[in-house]
Amino acid sequence: MKRVLSGIQPSGQLTLGNYIGALRNYVLLQEEHDCFFMVVDLHAITVPQEPAALKEQTESVTALFLASGLDPTKSNIFLQSHVRAHAELGWLLTTLTYMGELERMTQFKDKSSGKESIGAGLFTYPSLMAADILLYGTNLVPVGDDQKQHLELTRDLANRFNQRFGETFPIPEPFIPKVGARIMSLDDASKKMSKSNPNAGSYIAMLDGPDVIRKKLSRSVTDSGREVKYDLAAKPEISNLMSIYASCSDLSIQQIEARYEGQGYGPFKKDLAEAVVATLEPIQQRYRDIRSSGELEAALRSGAEQASAIADKTLREVKARMGFVLP
Ligand code: TYM
Repeated sequence: MKRVLSGIQPSGQLTLGNYIGALRNYVLLQEEHDCFFMVVDLHAITVPQEPAALKEQTESVTALFLASGLDPTKSNIFLQSHVRAHAELGWLLTTLTYMGELERMTQFKDKSSGKESIGAGLFTYPSLMAADILLYGTNLVPVGDDQKQHLELTRDLANRFNQRFGETFPIPEPFIPKVGARIMSLDDASKKMSKSNPNAGSYIAMLDGPDVIRKKLSRSVTDSGREVKYDLAAKPEISNLMSIYASCSDLSIQQIEARYEGQGYGPFKKDLAEAVVATLEPIQQRYRDIRSSGELEAALRSGAEQASAIADKTLREVKARMGFVLP
């Protein structure tokens, strides 16, 4: 059985991009694999977070994990900060990471560009992410396209450690969906859909109500043509909407093209909105139930216990191999 691990930052509202690119696949993978899914609160503080908001978002994202179908009896669901080994292995791996490697990371370049003061944690973020993955002997990491580069660095660090200190870590593989790995902004198809975009019309939040979803999609930018055709270079906006539609229905891109041939964008956008509403509405209903019940705490407690047992064992082995005197 393969071991699967992934994480999502509680740094704002989760978007439809997070759901399609990552969360939805976690739910599928938990049926056949040994899974670890965490809310990466230690990563979220690499940019300033207001304490009350961090707490609320951490609980909200965890509830969305469960509401989307992650099942604590099938997957280990936990908070990164509840398993201390993450911060510790993160440090050990930081000492094996080169400045040049971190300087090349596009997420760092994007998040730091134009800022006057940049936290050192934002720079060393990928070493902590490598620790997240390597602590569990992970084989498969379900992520959207934007995390590919971080995963490549994780693989390099695993190889580097193994070569220097002896075979310790399996080399993890990315698991990136064929459709939906990069959901773009509704107002600009050259940018990924992101919770940090100040224009709320540019993304669909997982907790947006049906009418908000309909309004945002009806206002989404499209080219001036009228053909519903998948062509990333010539029609990036409509192609993005088609990826969303395919991900929220059982239609393939080809079937969507055939269904709307000669009809223009109007009927397509209407049906797309209903498909997104039908995907998110049941999740939102479960979300409300979960937030008003006590099930979050219990799931997180048992998730952290099981995760810590594995993580502590790996950390001990790593420290022994590196030459630390063990307590
Ligand atoms: P984060 O919190 O930015 O995003 C969580 C997941 O959602 C995916 N995603 C998208 N997929 C498709 N289209 C989009 N517009 C879109 N936006 C986000 C991301 O690719 C990601 O899979 N560094 C990670 C968190 C992390 C992690 C880990 C992931 C920390 N440790 C260990 C995997 C394993 C991040 O910032 O994701």
